[in-house]
Amino acid sequence: MSFLELHDIRKAYTLNHQENVILKGINLNFERGEFISILGESGGGKSTLMNIIGGLDHHYDGDVLLDGQSLRSMNVRQMDRYRRETIGFIFQNFNLVSYLTVLDNVMLSLKMTKTSHAQQVQQAQDLLKRVGLEQQTHQYPNELSGGQKQRVAIARALASDPDIIIADEPTGALDSENTQEVMDILYSIAAEGKLVITVTHSQEVADYGTRIVHLDDGQIHDELVIGAPFDVVDKQPTRYRTLGFRQMFRMSMQHMRRMWLRYLLIIFGSSIGISSIVVMLGLGSGIQNYMNHQITSQVNPTAVQVSKKTGKVSTAARKKATSAAAYKAAVNQEQVTAAKNAEVTTANVKQLAAIKHVKSAKLGYYTSTQASYKKNNRDGQSPDG
Ligand SMILES: Nc1ncnc2c1ncn2[C@@H]1O[C@H](COP(=O)(O)OP(=O)(O)O)[C@@H](O)[C@H]1O
Ligand SMILES: [Mg+2]
Repeated sequence: MSFLELHDIRKAYTLNHQENVILKGINLNFERGEFISILGESGGGKSTLMNIIGGLDHHYDGDVLLDGQSLRSMNVRQMDRYRRETIGFIFQNFNLVSYLTVLDNVMLSLKMTKTSHAQQVQQAQDLLKRVGLEQQTHQYPNELSGGQKQRVAIARALASDPDIIIADEPTGALDSENTQEVMDILYSIAAEGKLVITVTHSQEVADYGTRIVHLDDGQIHDELVIGAPFDVVDKQPTRYRTLGFRQMFRMSMQHMRRMWLRYLLIIFGSSIGISSIVVMLGLGSGIQNYMNHQITSQVNPTAVQVSKKTGKVSTAARKKATSAAAYKAAVNQEQVTAAKNAEVTTANVKQLAAIKHVKSAKLGYYTSTQASYKKNNRDGQSPDG
């Protein structure tokens, strides 16, 4: 039985109803003290495999066994412990917490242990010394070079004293000098008896390993053993605890202190955005209300006016009128006659009310006339009904 065993690991992603097989049955055994290089082209499934080994991905077929125990048989708490105490992750882009100092980044994992604060500081300082960063403990990640950042990440991964270090393209963002420094440190970790698995697409980086596993297109193509595993050094078990409220509160406050300006700007920016939306919506509905009011006050779409025409009524009296008073009297007489002609009866109203969708019908009158009297009556017009 090996320390870590992969049994027929298969994994596929389904995109747009199309199954994309990423890992096509991986069988591998690893021992403590081995420095494994997983070498392969980009997209070959290396990171997918590391996420499965690291307990970050549960959706796969096959089995991962640690000291003979399947990860599938572990409950949530055991998986938490596995990720926290057995695995140390190192990523290409370092994944450091930008608002924490180098020392606090390394102490992140130590805060979960039952050792005293003074001991945690001492351990973090020892780890930073080991990776050659004892001078940088109080600096922030953005004040460091890429190689230094990766060395902080290594110190942080080592803080929980894990049995397995997974380094996914740890030198992908580094120049050759920093690559060598980082690989030397990883080599020394394996030499202490830990299992170090480095993922890379570079043959040069892979050559640091004691065994090179060639993974491409989801399959192991070949394995090359370069050296025997290193001897295992017994380690002291670390006692862990869950983070207390005080600890979490302190970390949140540290985060706030470091990021207050950014948060202030975010709050300011967001409030401008929200206010603009409110103003725009307010303006929008205001304009809409105004339009509605204008339309309904001019033309009420729910009220339909039905009129009955009087017909043309013109009397000889108007033409014969020789004074404004006589003309007006003639026009009045015409209007009375016209109104009589056009009288709307209650029967008419009932007829209208009976039409489908008409709620009610009301009787009303209006008169209009544009008649005017001019001397000799030359410009006189007939009244309209
Ligand atoms: N979450 C995902 N959904 C769909 N496809 C994915 C996902 N993650 C990775 N892949 C695909 O799986 C393949 C292998 O990816 P990865 O394991 O990251 O390769 P490598 O690390 O070797 O470059 C790639 O083709 C990638 O596009
Ligand atoms: Mg990858």
